Order: sequence, then C-alpha cells, then structure tokens
Amino acid sequence: MAKERPKSPRARLFVALDLPDELREGIGAWGREALSDPALRPVAPESLHVTLAFLGSRPQEEIEAIAGVVRGGVAPAPWLELLDPEQRPPRGRARLYALPALSPGAEALQAGIAQGLAEAGFYQAEGRPFWPHVTVARVRPEGRGTRRPAVVSDPPGKLPEELSEARICRRMTLYRSELQPSGARYAPLAQVQLPG
Ligand code: 2AM
Repeated sequence: MAKERPKSPRARLFVALDLPDELREGIGAWGREALSDPALRPVAPESLHVTLAFLGSRPQEEIEAIAGVVRGGVAPAPWLELLDPEQRPPRGRARLYALPALSPGAEALQAGIAQGLAEAGFYQAEGRPFWPHVTVARVRPEGRGTRRPAVVSDPPGKLPEELSEARICRRMTLYRSELQPSGARYAPLAQVQLPG
C-alpha cells in the first residue's frame, strides 16, 4: 500500500496596513466604553489593522517568497480617515463592527500588493471590491455549539472627532494569524516601511 505523504505545515497569512500607535491606543481607549456590551469581543489595540490581502492557509515553505513580494510592494505611505462604526452584515444580527476607512492611498497600495501576490500565485483576487476598514469587535456566539451571533443591545456609537482626523500609515506587515481559544493572535513575519 502506498504510504501517505505527510502534509506540509501551513500558516494562515494576511497582509495588512498597520495603524499608527497613537491611533491604535485612541481606538482602544474609546472601545473600553463603546465596545463594552458583553456580547462583544473587542479587538486588542495592538491587533487593529486594515487587511489588504487575506491569503488564507498557505504552505509554510512559501512564506519567504510571499515576504519578498510584500517587501517589493512599496508604495507611498497612505493617508487614512476613519468613519463611524458600521455593523456587518448591515442588516440582521451583527457579526462584527468595523470602522470604514477613507483612503485612496490604501486602495492603491492594496491593488498593487494584490496584483503582485496574484501574479506570483499566492493570492486569488476576491470577487467583491476592496472595503478598507478596521474591525474593532466581533460578536460572541449566542451559546455553545452555535455560530449564531448573540444580540448586541448596546452597539457602539459615533467616533470622537479626534479619531476621525486623517492620519498617515507608514507600515505594511505580513502577518500569520494563530487561532487560540482566547481569540486570534497576529504574529508579524515581515514588515515594510512605506516612504513619504
Ligand atoms: P476582518 O477584520 O474584516 O474580519 C485576519 O483574520 C484578518 O484577515 C482579519 O482582519 C480579517 O478581516 C481578514 N480575513 C479573515 N478571513 C477572511 C476572508 N475569508 N476573506 C477576507 N478577509 C479575511
């Protein structure tokens, strides 16, 4: 009987635009009040980001080559303006709350990195258009053994003005997402400083 080949280890990867530290901290401070509904699991301030390309589960041996594409995808550091929180999906029970981002620069950066990764065979462009956003909380399931989200009776209100001011984002990172019982942990694998 033929021996089964051992499966190569895989990693769940994504490329993100990091937010400046003071913006991460500001969102964290706002969220202590605004995201305090018990149905919500706020994203830790150090994990707040704009996903540019979600690669899914890839063989670990590809990581170096993927990091090379990310390092080669340098574009001007984009300005980014955050808007008030929105739920997703937009109707019915929320699964997550996110701050939509206005950022032509992030859209240009995303288009370049997605194209580079796709040409190298590491990424399949999503059918839907890119929606720049920062997820700030996910909704816990209603109970054990179900994925139906719990009811959020106190959804987040508007952002304070200082968090909506345009900020420049100077770093792009390739992350590995490690799923843990306490939530996902994002480990940086490669980082690029964006000029400008
Ligand atoms: P989200 O913040 O909008 O949920 C790590 O999991 C990051 O990749 C998250 O920021 C998440 O986006 C994004 N992500 C996870 N699964 C995804 C999928 N199937 N398609 C696109 N993005 C995904």
